[in-house]
Amino acid sequence: MSDKHATLTIEGKSYALPIIEGSEGDMAVDIRSLLKESGYITLDSGYMNTGSCSSDITFLDGNKGILNYRGYAIDELAEQCSFIEVAYLLFLGELPNRTQLNDFRELISRYALIHEDMIHFFDHFPPKASPMSILSTMVNSLGSYYPEMSADSSDEAVLSVAARLLSKIRTIAAFSYKKSEGHPLVSPRYDLSYCGNFLNMMFDKPVTPYVVHPEVVATVNKLLILHADHEQNCSTSTVRLVGSAGVNLYTSISAGISALWGPLHGGANQAVIEMLEGIHRDNNDFEKYIKKAKDPNDNFRLSGFGHRVYKTFDPRATIIKRACEQTLKVLNVDDPLLEIAMQLEEIARSDDYFISRNLYPNVDFYSGIIYRAMGIPTNMFTVMFAMGRLPGWISHWQEMMMDTKDRKIGRPRQIYTGPVKRDFVPLHERG
Ligand code: SDX
Repeated sequence: MSDKHATLTIEGKSYALPIIEGSEGDMAVDIRSLLKESGYITLDSGYMNTGSCSSDITFLDGNKGILNYRGYAIDELAEQCSFIEVAYLLFLGELPNRTQLNDFRELISRYALIHEDMIHFFDHFPPKASPMSILSTMVNSLGSYYPEMSADSSDEAVLSVAARLLSKIRTIAAFSYKKSEGHPLVSPRYDLSYCGNFLNMMFDKPVTPYVVHPEVVATVNKLLILHADHEQNCSTSTVRLVGSAGVNLYTSISAGISALWGPLHGGANQAVIEMLEGIHRDNNDFEKYIKKAKDPNDNFRLSGFGHRVYKTFDPRATIIKRACEQTLKVLNVDDPLLEIAMQLEEIARSDDYFISRNLYPNVDFYSGIIYRAMGIPTNMFTVMFAMGRLPGWISHWQEMMMDTKDRKIGRPRQIYTGPVKRDFVPLHERG
């Protein structure tokens, strides 16, 4: 805490509000005593100017396009780590050594199956049920099968709970896809990596065995790492808010999955593909869609563009765009949507409407094109985002639950704008 402060003067009275400086130089005015001292609250729709907590997990700089997990730059992690390695880093704050990584992998393998009773749940979802609603329901149900939520914050306990959820979300995601296709479920295999197992459970079939392609596994690894955390985004803030009421991890994560589903948030990767397909069907009439996106009277927006924090290129989008071109080449896929996306980006980035509002491609703009090339169905794209974001959600939930000093139930205030106090009118007098 620095000894600097801001002075707020209201009706001639001044209040000294401490200035808090983060480890990367990010600054905040501490208003935790404002209501008590002044009787005033602050108002900040969408929390655009408001921090909800301090955190040691992820640092973003939206003006410089910086994203670091526990101090490590995202591009180095994405290029040199496995997803499991990065998950470990997010949970415990340090990269694992070889023994620690192997022990963590062993834990994840051990927890890969879901309770046999849970498999019957899939028989009772409607055939067209969204995989995101299935995922949220199934993850919430895990709390009933594994109630031993440890209050123990030792590294072993944290890793065990996290490994179980990381492993089972992958199985649930693959099983929900198989069920939607009417194909037999494929069990996880001990000899495959986290991402290799996921691909095999998704695409292996008795009559056409799936060949796990190392390049595809590497790309899934990279995509999951790039989605692993992003400080206090909508879904992570949801996990923290729900968890702050004392709700168990599975239920808190289930709420995060529901928040991520929104097309303004994680659902954007699916919305991007639907938008690109629409433009393709419309004879690639880019101008029409750029015009719609700029029209204040049209609620159409360019999905995959813009960001609450990044006012320059989303560093993840840069890496994903490169991976997209590489993966389509490796898979020998010629997807017209990639060309449309690149042209849309080029047009938007030379248009003053987008430039003046700092609207650039975000993490969702190119990711769906890669998933498509791998054969992952569009309605599973946000499930991929959820699988990637899980380590971030768990880490933030743990960080909040272990903050016994500053932890409070999340309960924002409001400014009331409704009718002032009036006398009650009994029913028989209401005409
Ligand atoms: C994710 O927070 C995170 O970290 C999220 C995330 C993560 O990793 O967790 O990064 C993942 O959610 C990425 C974002 C995915 N969503 C989309 O791609 C949906 C399309 N983008 C937008 O809806 C929008 O940009 C948001 C929701 C992402 C951000 O919205 P803000 O910060 O509330 O900004 P805003 O809506 O106030 O927009 C500011 C201006 C407005 O114009 P004016 O009123 O000033 O004239 O920019 C315009 C908006 O109309 N604008 C867009 C636009 N995004 C903003 N115009 C056209 N197309 C867009 N995509």
